[in-house]
Amino acid sequence: MGSARGSYYSALKQITKVANSALSLRRICNSIAKSAATAVQANGCRILSLNPQKEYLITVGAYGLSDLYLKKGPLDVHKSLPDILDGKVVFIADAAKDKRVQYPQIALAQGISSILGIPVLEKGEAIGEIRIYTREPRQFSEADKSFLLSVADICAVIFERAELHQLLEQDYKANEKRRKSSRVSPLPATTLRPTSFAHPSEEDFAKLLDFYCIEWLYEPRSFPLRWEGDKIAEMFTPDFYLPELDLYVELTTLKQHLLTEKNRKLRQLRELYPEVNIRLLNKNDFLKLLAKYGYGPLGEAKVEGIDRVLYSHAKIQRRVKTLARHISRDYAGQRLVLIGILKGVVCFMADLMQNLSLPVTLDFMAISYYGGDGQVVKITRDLDSSITGQHVLMVEDIVDTGMTLNYILSHLSAHNPASLRVCTLLDKKARRLINVPLDYVGFEVPDEFVVGYGLDYKGEYRNLPFIGILHPELTKGAEPH
Ligand code: PRP
Repeated sequence: MGSARGSYYSALKQITKVANSALSLRRICNSIAKSAATAVQANGCRILSLNPQKEYLITVGAYGLSDLYLKKGPLDVHKSLPDILDGKVVFIADAAKDKRVQYPQIALAQGISSILGIPVLEKGEAIGEIRIYTREPRQFSEADKSFLLSVADICAVIFERAELHQLLEQDYKANEKRRKSSRVSPLPATTLRPTSFAHPSEEDFAKLLDFYCIEWLYEPRSFPLRWEGDKIAEMFTPDFYLPELDLYVELTTLKQHLLTEKNRKLRQLRELYPEVNIRLLNKNDFLKLLAKYGYGPLGEAKVEGIDRVLYSHAKIQRRVKTLARHISRDYAGQRLVLIGILKGVVCFMADLMQNLSLPVTLDFMAISYYGGDGQVVKITRDLDSSITGQHVLMVEDIVDTGMTLNYILSHLSAHNPASLRVCTLLDKKARRLINVPLDYVGFEVPDEFVVGYGLDYKGEYRNLPFIGILHPELTKGAEPH
């Protein structure tokens, strides 16, 4: 025990020293991974951080693990040891057999038996993980866990510092751009990007993806292409993976000899892994791809005047599906009347109802505002059918001041429905004047003018497949949604 304590002590000493050095994030984390694994007498360690959308884990440092193991594919937070992100320490005795392991076959092939996962917490919320790997099956002592929890605390501070550094750098660059051209808007703030890109064009590509809120992972998977006996003789690691499109992307350069080589590898990859979707892209190809999903300068939807994308089409769809799951669960075995207020709700209503596994009927109301300050509400289209004794769900695209909803709810309750609840895609709490009960909320939005996916500015922008923020210059003096 005494010697174990001694090894924790010298490891922590080394870790705090390197944490306070001027090394890059990756080198700091690689060194911590080595110290941590050695102190608990394990074979390997990796330090992971959550991506900005909190859907995937990104390796920021590793020790003792093969490149093939590290790049075995995207690590999905819902599939890969999911409990760690609830703040729990997770122990896996046999990685090849445990359902909580996302790639058990690769663990088996790489000779990994036991895994210990430790959450990296910031103010109680998970922002990453430390994972310890052993070749022989083994248990970990309470002292091992307590030591690793301290290492995780140090990692949290390092992540926070790196994030702050990135934000300051980003802010500086954005200000510099703004000085050069007043029309260029700053990029949205991102959380920690622990990636050091191999090429500047990759960094530009990542920024473009960030601008359009398209989730990306950098080099999450290496594909073996050729073997010599048991040994892998050639591998190919595409630059990016875009999970929402289930697409691997390899960026091209204009150098012909590189292009020919890449084309050869891609052909081989497609033959060996026919289920994998991969594209070779230059910048123009990428803009065309974005256009297919309604984004970017070549997109068909009118996006002029959009400062930035707040929620991508894929993100909205994911959230709508989750809301629909909750509603279907809460109303299981019952019939439901969905009531929407025209017109903003059309996109949300259409997607929501298609994802409900319940018998539903639909009704719509329309209202207009009058009075000097437009704060009096009048119903211009009432319900088609009676809702007395029915379970009613009011569906809204956005709740802002709460005036509309408050008026409609009192109107509907007068008809004595069996129950009356509210589901809104967006909740702009900052502008609330009347407290209204919201039972299902998609996103809490910042106090900015949002358009798209049904929401308009002067009747336009409703057809955008995403929700964006209007350029502030356009909306000076206008009442925000
Ligand atoms: C929007 C939205 C809500 C209302 C919310 O409608 O659809 O019904 O504003 O605002 P409040 O909480 O401040 O009352 P809008 O009047 O823009 O009409 P639209 O649905 O036709 O776009």
